[in-house]
Amino acid sequence: MKVALIFYSFSGNTQRVFEYLKEVLLSRGCSLGFLRLKPENEPKSFFKQGFSAFTKEKPKLKGEVFYDLKDFDYIILGTPLWAFTFSPALRSYLEKVKNLKNKRVSFLFTYGSGAGLSKAIRELKSILEEKSAQIKSFASLEGKKVKERSYLEEKLKDFLRL
Ligand SMILES: Cc1cc2nc3c(=O)[nH]c(=O)nc-3n(C[C@H](O)[C@H](O)[C@H](O)COP(=O)(O)O)c2cc1C
Repeated sequence: MKVALIFYSFSGNTQRVFEYLKEVLLSRGCSLGFLRLKPENEPKSFFKQGFSAFTKEKPKLKGEVFYDLKDFDYIILGTPLWAFTFSPALRSYLEKVKNLKNKRVSFLFTYGSGAGLSKAIRELKSILEEKSAQIKSFASLEGKKVKERSYLEEKLKDFLRL
């Protein structure tokens, strides 16, 4: 099975979750596409980051970005929760993504307090549904706990059960 792992992470929490998913999927014999999204001009201040998410900015992404998912069997998307929504980098990616139709997709958020999480899940779900993706599962993980392996195992045990 060929799996695309596509995520944004600013301070490393979401990245940590994706490193774990990578390890699990490789141990299951999957082949992987691993893509960490990065805006060309990435705001570094909390206020600018929050504003860019809240106003639904779509920054230009840096580097080699694969947008065509036709060769993948399964796609996993990940993002921090920013200002009650998902990150601008993921928004940019979803605007240009190709061949998501009928693909199996899972997504996850990492978050701080959890404020705005259910709204953000609804929003991302509806964008994926508009693109006719088959949503298989979603998860949300508390950013400050993702260093604990047992937390990752517990939170993600059903996530990858396809
Ligand atoms: C600009 C900004 C906005 C945030 N907004 C929220 C929010 O609305 N709700 C919440 O629970 N956490 C919020 N957080 C916390 C992050 O979602 C959390 O720390 C996340 O795990 C960071 O992921 P990362 O390390 O992969 O960047 C925000 C963090 C930042 C930097």
